[in-house]
Amino acid sequence: EETGKGGYEHYMLKEIDSQPTSLRNTIKGRISPSGDDVDVDAFDPETLSEFSEVQFVACGTSYHAALYGTTLLNEAGVRARTYRASEYQMASDPVTEETLVVSVTQSGETADTLGAMRRASREGATVLTVTNVMGSSAARAADETVYIHAGPEIGVAATKTFSSQTVTLALLAQRLAAHMSGEREHRDLEPALDALTSLPDDLGRMLEGDDAERIANRFLGSDAYFFIGRGLGYPVAKESALKFKEITYEHAEGFASGELKHGPLALVTPQTPVFAVFTGEHDEKTLKNAKEAQTRGAPIVAVAKEGHPAIEATDAHLPIPDTDPMWSGLLANVQLQLVSYHAANELGRSIDKPRNLAKSVTVE
Ligand code: G6P
Repeated sequence: EETGKGGYEHYMLKEIDSQPTSLRNTIKGRISPSGDDVDVDAFDPETLSEFSEVQFVACGTSYHAALYGTTLLNEAGVRARTYRASEYQMASDPVTEETLVVSVTQSGETADTLGAMRRASREGATVLTVTNVMGSSAARAADETVYIHAGPEIGVAATKTFSSQTVTLALLAQRLAAHMSGEREHRDLEPALDALTSLPDDLGRMLEGDDAERIANRFLGSDAYFFIGRGLGYPVAKESALKFKEITYEHAEGFASGELKHGPLALVTPQTPVFAVFTGEHDEKTLKNAKEAQTRGAPIVAVAKEGHPAIEATDAHLPIPDTDPMWSGLLANVQLQLVSYHAANELGRSIDKPRNLAKSVTVE
């Protein structure tokens, strides 16, 4: 087992550190040679143009990656929703032959997700799965499979697979939008694809820093940890909170920035740090929301690129490299994976096998 860890104390840190490589594998061959279009092999254009909406089904971390994909599809004018796979089976929302159901599952073995796929097929939808495992139950049950190529993940807490899912879903969303959306203007893809080719290197540089460990130690012993974000920063806030609670056993919650004032502010004290994710979009509003918590005494950690205006206005800074807003959430998420890791390590938790959790849950 020690050899498998390649000198690391935990698989989780090894897997976090391996993300430049796993991302390179995810991206390989998926940007067209001209550099301005995506090349994701899923259905022919004619089939795609027959779909009128996309329904994502997923659990846990994969659900948060699906939220990322949904946000990008909606923005491009495609009707899309994300469902908790366990709820989808009894949801009464219509599923028709024009529905494309996309299941997102690292393992391809999650019972709730497989159940949701069965419902979708039964009701006449076409099912695509986005998975990491060749020949998995999801890959066998789906009409079409897109692999994330992240390589095996051993740590129970998903890390590198979230990053690879996010990139795969972002590229898939562009392809779906190209054939499914009407007249809606699309995001200019070229800068995003350009930024994607340098993302693995950006990530590599970021991983050399020790900012996450410093921040983790500074806030250790707090009563609770909150994460906020907007747009593409929202799934990152949710995922970061999930990671934090999974491996530290501390109370952590992720909120849409704008929701803070509708309830969660009641929980805010000087003992509840708030990590605010700044993606480069809607940042002014997120900063305003963060300041509302700061006024109530909460220390604010700005997860933002160097030179960002939020840094001056907040209490601590967790830096991320400058990239296209489509990917800055992914970088923020990796920094926050490291914060969770270092906090859990300092607390002496069982990082690779947290209590009560399993890598793959094969019961409903
Ligand atoms: C379990 C794992 C999570 C994972 C979820 C979904 O709960 O502990 O890390 O996100 O299952 O797994 P899947 O393999 O379907 O992505």
